[in-house]
Amino acid sequence: MVLSPRVQDPVRALWAPEAAVEFGMPASCELAAPAVDAPAVTPFPASSSVGSDMSASAASDSSAAALPASSADSAAGAAEAAKAEILDKRRRHVGPNLALFFQDEPLHIVEGRGAELFDAQGTPYLDCINNVSHVGHCHPRVAAAVAAQLTRLNTNSRYLHAGLGDYAAELAALLPAPLEVVYMTVSGSEANDLAWRVAAAVARRADPGDARPLHVACVDHAYHGHTSFCIEISPYKFKGPGGGGRLAHVHVLPCPDVYRGQNLDGRAAARAAIATAEASGGRLAAFFSESILSCGGQVILPEGYLAGLYAEMRAAGAVCVADEVQCGFGRVGRAFWAFELQGVVPDIVTFGKPCGNGFPMAGLVTTRAVADGFASGGMEFFATFGGCTAAPACGLAVLDVIREERLQQNAAAVGAHCLARLRALQAQHPSHIGDVRGEGLMVGIEVVTDRDPAPALAAALKLHAKRAHRVLLSTEGPYSSVLKIKPPMCFSIAQADQMVAALADGLAALEASPTHKAALLERNAAEVAAVRERHARLG
Ligand SMILES: Cc1ncc(COP(=O)(O)O)c(C=O)c1O
Repeated sequence: MVLSPRVQDPVRALWAPEAAVEFGMPASCELAAPAVDAPAVTPFPASSSVGSDMSASAASDSSAAALPASSADSAAGAAEAAKAEILDKRRRHVGPNLALFFQDEPLHIVEGRGAELFDAQGTPYLDCINNVSHVGHCHPRVAAAVAAQLTRLNTNSRYLHAGLGDYAAELAALLPAPLEVVYMTVSGSEANDLAWRVAAAVARRADPGDARPLHVACVDHAYHGHTSFCIEISPYKFKGPGGGGRLAHVHVLPCPDVYRGQNLDGRAAARAAIATAEASGGRLAAFFSESILSCGGQVILPEGYLAGLYAEMRAAGAVCVADEVQCGFGRVGRAFWAFELQGVVPDIVTFGKPCGNGFPMAGLVTTRAVADGFASGGMEFFATFGGCTAAPACGLAVLDVIREERLQQNAAAVGAHCLARLRALQAQHPSHIGDVRGEGLMVGIEVVTDRDPAPALAAALKLHAKRAHRVLLSTEGPYSSVLKIKPPMCFSIAQADQMVAALADGLAALEASPTHKAALLERNAAEVAAVRERHARLG
């Protein structure tokens, strides 16, 4: 892959083509077939505002800029050469459909601290994407806890070790009754996969005489993981590029769209899914959903949405699974778990990403009754690394840091500040910022043109933020038109302001160049039409 030749002057050449690739979309480099409708960013020149204080300071604070010109040039040349070698090796030996952030100009990040990432030349980037490094990149306390355990002992869970029970008890204390029994896995996908096995066991045990096949329900545009089962319940994948479409035993509830006032009744959505399952000869065993729909575009569910929905699902015999892999562990600020915002108690809660701050650990928590139902089949549950000795050591350290650094409270305060600043920006650009929504540090900005999704514009803003301000954002939602902000929980007010300034500058650059704005808007329509066609075909 050749790095974009347009990036000659990082301040002025801000809007070069880039196929927008976020996780879940194949990279359109030489190695992977381009996604049919992978959006590209239309070239766009910088406005005068782009040479603002922010970009000027961002440009001058790299360590390379501090060196004498010749040393800086050779350092930059060496860094580019190293990057090209890494890319080449990746291209030769790593699976071709592994996506890169900013694939036409990927970053070679070598270090992380707090909410910042540093490339090989020491250039800092503000990380508004990473909700895995929950308490901050490479938090020394978490790293030390894992290192200490790895140096002493790390085995599977078949020996007695205090850590596993301690961690399970701490998690249970953070959850409402009757959620109290923990199973540990390594990834969020594995946790959701296991949740399905648990739900299926419970359904079969509840009515052994009912021979109908077990069906499952999920919400449109959701992503629940990469195992075969998880792909089946992830419309984000099965309706996405390369997706195989919905399978007959999967029933998809429409995604609520509060901004446009559509699909707001959870109870009605549940009833429809139950009726379809029964009409096709099946019975619903489980309903999976996040409580803020992250890949769906940071969708905040209408008040009471899950309460009515859960009631209907349970009446039909289905177990309700809350996927807290993205939104758990205090991210939503007002609560430790996102489902609490809906006033419901799920039957199973799956968790992952943030719990290990980058160490691979995940799991589920359920009720004693459900766990006993699962165990009653007699099959042992075993995962070599799930609950290995190092995992609880890590998880306990993460929980300590969340508490001691008051990160949930920080998420609430900084999140509220982000929303207020972004809403002020929305008031200045009402035709392109359709909606600003969020809870805590889970924030979404719906980029639109006349209320229609504007994926090309969102991609351009994302690229501008990276190039001119070194602010890393991602896009999500059915049309990749929602800018998603989910930084490490130590994100500060100053960093929030830096992120908002990057977006404000991008929008100013857009307004200053009507020709390029028109080109972007034209692309939006084509991209949205292509996605709609694919969804209709695979849904
Ligand atoms: C909501 C949600 N659930 C589950 C998963 C799967 O987790 P993992 O990638 O750890 O398997 C993800 C990953 O992005 C996710 O966002």
